[in-house]
Amino acid sequence: MSKPSILVVGTGYVGLTCAACFANQGFKVTGLDIDEAKVDLLSSGTSPIFEPGLDELLTAGLESGLLEFTTSSEAASTADVVFLCLPTPPLPTGTPDISILRSAIVQYRESLKSGAAVVTKSTVPLGTSKDVAAWLDRDDVHLVSNPEFLREGSAIHDFLNPDRVVVGSLNHDAALVVQSLYDGLPGERILCDPLSAELIKYAANAFLATKLSFVNELARICDEVGGDVDAVTHGIGTDHRIADSFLTPGPGWGGSCFPKDVAGLAALARSSRLRVPVIESAVESNRDHFDHVITQIRKHVGKPLQGANVAMWGIAFKAGTDDTRSSPALDIAERLAAEQCQVRAADPVAKVDGNLFTQMDMYDACDAADLLVIATEWNEFRDADLAQVAARLGQPTILDLRGIISSEAAAEHGLTVHALGRPH
Ligand code: UGA
Repeated sequence: MSKPSILVVGTGYVGLTCAACFANQGFKVTGLDIDEAKVDLLSSGTSPIFEPGLDELLTAGLESGLLEFTTSSEAASTADVVFLCLPTPPLPTGTPDISILRSAIVQYRESLKSGAAVVTKSTVPLGTSKDVAAWLDRDDVHLVSNPEFLREGSAIHDFLNPDRVVVGSLNHDAALVVQSLYDGLPGERILCDPLSAELIKYAANAFLATKLSFVNELARICDEVGGDVDAVTHGIGTDHRIADSFLTPGPGWGGSCFPKDVAGLAALARSSRLRVPVIESAVESNRDHFDHVITQIRKHVGKPLQGANVAMWGIAFKAGTDDTRSSPALDIAERLAAEQCQVRAADPVAKVDGNLFTQMDMYDACDAADLLVIATEWNEFRDADLAQVAARLGQPTILDLRGIISSEAAAEHGLTVHALGRPH
């Protein structure tokens, strides 16, 4: 039997990763996007986003002829499986806006091949599968929910090495076709109904965000009463029921997914008049954590923030990406700027326009600074030349929000490192 042909609608972060990875797995894939300039760029083998390994897969896919990009909706008429990878940005209420999804379905519904599976891949609000089925209004086209669990910065790795593949559908045959697309890959297969599949995605992100809020609270407790958060997280992470990943305190969780999905889940509960204090508190705790970070900066600058000079390493919401959406680093910079504190920032990849801070080389940013704040865990910062940092800083103090600098190594250069929840 020939392999199913795939159409990916939307070549954003999720769509592009899926298209390149499915082509890598030997499927014939077409990426469809309304943005002509983007389609031209992709067709020339250039990725508009920074994601390790993506350029290589893109080039290989184009060269093999398995991957192509188009703006033409004709592609919808030949595909066996159509993945919808369209944005669902939050409305002011926190509820995701599904109007882009709706327009796409209305536009393509007539052209879809009989027997095709239409798959929601990007995170969609609970119950969207029902809406999609109603918009589709085609008995011969089957709806499947197949949520993604891709981390920015390691999306290719995560796609090719899934912990699990979740396939939710009311049509068993369509579910099996979608499941078969992952046949060469490891991980558990979870077949369920579409709403459960949608909820698994929200639950995973909300649980992980809650775990991080909890860990950041532990760091705050250690900052206040003593103790070493690394020892504490190691101590609890060895319990297999807790598990040892996602236990590193940081500047607070951010990015394009956690804040949106946790808010989305809370908004959904509110709209059903359901109390979900654990989920609501995860968000509140994260806000408190940003306050704690500013308190720490204030303490280690050691003078009024007004007129002080802070160097900040890291702008992206985490290492390995150029994404600055809901980046804790930007939140910190905004709060410092609001107090007329001068911020000079450096990031190996991310760029931000505007006058929140001046962006420059990581060592130049340290010149005469009252404090160096490390907001993102890039290896460039981990492997920094500490002698140069010491020579450039005005005050020899680092606030390492990611716990990546050895305080012993720094002390050899006369630098003091303060890290969240760790003794110094
Ligand atoms: C997250 C999920 O991890 C993916 O499984 C999911 O598919 C994706 O959202 C999505 O919904 O599309 P991502 O936002 O790329 O992926 O980033 P994560 O690596 O999960 O990090 C999220 C935030 O937690 C970042 O601010 C990061 O710095 C922070 N974090 C993570 C910590 O502070 N400590 C940790 O130990 C881990």
